[in-house]
Amino acid sequence: MKHLLSLLDLSPVQTQELIDLAAKLKSDWKQGQLKPLLDRKVLVQIYEKPSLRTRVSFESAMIHLGGSGMFMSEKEAGLDGRESLEDVARVVSRFADVVVLRTFSQKMIEDFAKVSNCPVVNGLSDDFHPCQALTDILTMQEHCGDIEGKTMVYLGDGNNVARSLAISCADMGVKFILCSPQGYQLEPEFAEILEKRVPGASYQIIEDPLEAVKNADVLYTDVWASMGQEKETAKRRVAFAPYQINAELLAAAPKSVKFMHCLPAKRGLEVTDDVMETPNSIVFDQAENRMHIARAVFAWLLKVSSDK
Ligand code: CP
Ligand code: NVA
Repeated sequence: MKHLLSLLDLSPVQTQELIDLAAKLKSDWKQGQLKPLLDRKVLVQIYEKPSLRTRVSFESAMIHLGGSGMFMSEKEAGLDGRESLEDVARVVSRFADVVVLRTFSQKMIEDFAKVSNCPVVNGLSDDFHPCQALTDILTMQEHCGDIEGKTMVYLGDGNNVARSLAISCADMGVKFILCSPQGYQLEPEFAEILEKRVPGASYQIIEDPLEAVKNADVLYTDVWASMGQEKETAKRRVAFAPYQINAELLAAAPKSVKFMHCLPAKRGLEVTDDVMETPNSIVFDQAENRMHIARAVFAWLLKVSSDK
């Protein structure tokens, strides 16, 4: 059984395969030639946190491929203690062909997957957001051409999105610069994990935003307080204020730089309105690509799992 709990579950070659498949399915879709590869398959999504893009893109993707999807909050599914997580997993995975989970703890997704009868996809946990990071590579490829050797600068919180992006960038030969203040960077051992996965992967931490963006092909940011960190909002606003992507920072980057954000954005905090609306911004193409990646993830996981 193949799951997508983090990008570490894929080899770098498989990351590439998934992106290529997404591009192919996107082109089929645009030409009205998408085949019902997942006829009558059932997707179940169980979320502990809110979502717009993830929930809708996964459900749309399954419908476009000939299947159908249903959604439950953790309360409805019983993850809140009505029965054990493992019992929920054993039951749901007998009904479903694929399950997407959005949780606080990564361990919860892993525990679910251990006993699941069908593939499980991480739709975001506190640690990882793998489908977002695959989406971001597809989007970068579409807007920057050959991305090998190009530079992505991620400004702000070293969080679930940053961690997944650093892995996808390493897999694709993209230089990744994390521009975060001390106390909010990725764990020091993360650099070793990347190096072991892709020897020679370019991963750098630069704390000064003006210095970091000098040679950027892409500037990327995310909210300063992720879901579950709302109580730290005030403290984080102070720590991250110098990392806001605004007109001044954009001007310090090359003219051709693209601006990306996984969304939802807090306009006026991590990014200003004018940057969101500038022609450099590709955030809505990026959001659309969640659906194209979702199709590829389902098609690939179900095929790989049934081939075994
Ligand atoms: N980018 C993303 O995962 O958005 P949602 O939280 O709306 O799903
Ligand atoms: N880091 C954000 C991403 C939202 C898509 C969060 O976890 O809330």
